[in-house]
Amino acid sequence: MVTVVERWNIHPFHSWLRGIRPGPVHYNEEIGLWNVLDYEEVHGVLNDPKTFSSSTAHLAPVTIDEEFLEGDFAQMDPPDQTRYRKLVSKAFTPRVVAQLEPRIVEISRNLLDAMEGKERVELVEEFAYPLPVIVIAELLGIPTGDLEVFKKQAFRIIEQLNGYSFLYDDEEAQRTIEAAVDKFRPMVDFMRGQIADRRKNPGDDLLSHLVAAEVDGHRLTENEIVTIGNLMLVAGHITTTMLIGNAVACLDSNPDAFARVRADRSLVPSMLDETLRTLTPSAALSRRTTADVEIGGVGIPAETMILVWPGAANRDPRRFPDPETFDPGRTPNPHLGFGHGVHYCIGATLAKLEGRIAMNALLDRFPVLRTDPDDPPRFFPSPDIIGTASLPLRTHE
Ligand code: HEM
Repeated sequence: MVTVVERWNIHPFHSWLRGIRPGPVHYNEEIGLWNVLDYEEVHGVLNDPKTFSSSTAHLAPVTIDEEFLEGDFAQMDPPDQTRYRKLVSKAFTPRVVAQLEPRIVEISRNLLDAMEGKERVELVEEFAYPLPVIVIAELLGIPTGDLEVFKKQAFRIIEQLNGYSFLYDDEEAQRTIEAAVDKFRPMVDFMRGQIADRRKNPGDDLLSHLVAAEVDGHRLTENEIVTIGNLMLVAGHITTTMLIGNAVACLDSNPDAFARVRADRSLVPSMLDETLRTLTPSAALSRRTTADVEIGGVGIPAETMILVWPGAANRDPRRFPDPETFDPGRTPNPHLGFGHGVHYCIGATLAKLEGRIAMNALLDRFPVLRTDPDDPPRFFPSPDIIGTASLPLRTHE
């Protein structure tokens, strides 16, 4: 059986995607970085934010504008991270997220209606991308009609940005980052406009709550609100887009699993977890050592940037029996696709709900969905991201 990785030759340089593991911790000469790959070690690092800080920006050889970091709690450590995270976490509790179900069903239906009758569809462009964008924009209170300026922008940035760009200290890396920052500016201006509007006309949405929110008795600054708004907008859609596209790519490469899931829809949630395990969208996360440490028998000095790979840990045979097999009913499945510990993904419940609704709606609408070898999927080139950037499909035999 050819796996999805072999079939589309996903990231040929990641040997661990092909069952070859270089050890728990491996030094990458090319980027000059330690990589943590095995489950126990990845879990341990994510569980210890004191020793492994998320504040890594100042270690990157290229300078990142301070204004883009203010309020970015994904790059903070407790206790600051805890205070900022609290400002948005209430919007993502299971109870609040469950109330979004009818609207997500409606958005999926509308998108699928527009695809009706087509023999060929491009799943990412027509469905997997717009669905989570509309959901997160509505949560933030951004009118969908205003999204044009934002639409595809984040996607393009990620597509162009090699995930290692931040690590290289050369002119090309600097140029790539500068181009990405230039593309990011319209999103910042866009968010400023939205915030100004919400100051005048507050509503019951996340952005209005951020405008009124206080941390330690102080209102958030404009830069903080912009950063948190964009963090939610970006984190809230691209990964979910990848989850939906990857799920279809995995099913397509595993016809028996596809038939099982079609026949028994109660398998959809565990199939999505299995997708996150085998094709992990956020495959790598960065951390900074705050002390001299030993991981997997390797000594690493303080103030070193390391890459932690949930994507590789999710295929560790010591944690997952038969890790190369895509088993849509795999239980237990303690994958690290949403991270672990204090930074565990805030949107995990929402992403799972969107994934479940999206997959059920797709399977209901299309009795046939298959890739076309003459028009293959394209995966994001960035090594730290595993996901379909485009997924052309045929809807007939
Ligand atoms: C399948 C979809 C998703 C995947 C695979 C995913 C993955 C992740 C991962 C791995 C982390 C941990 C990062 C770290 O430890 O450094 C994370 C954090 C985060 N995610 Fe997600 N995510 C998804 C969907 C979402 C959605 C829908 C939202 C927003 C509504 C969201 C918002 C966030 C935020 C704000 C953080 C930072 C949390 C913190 O640092 O405290 N994510 N996500």
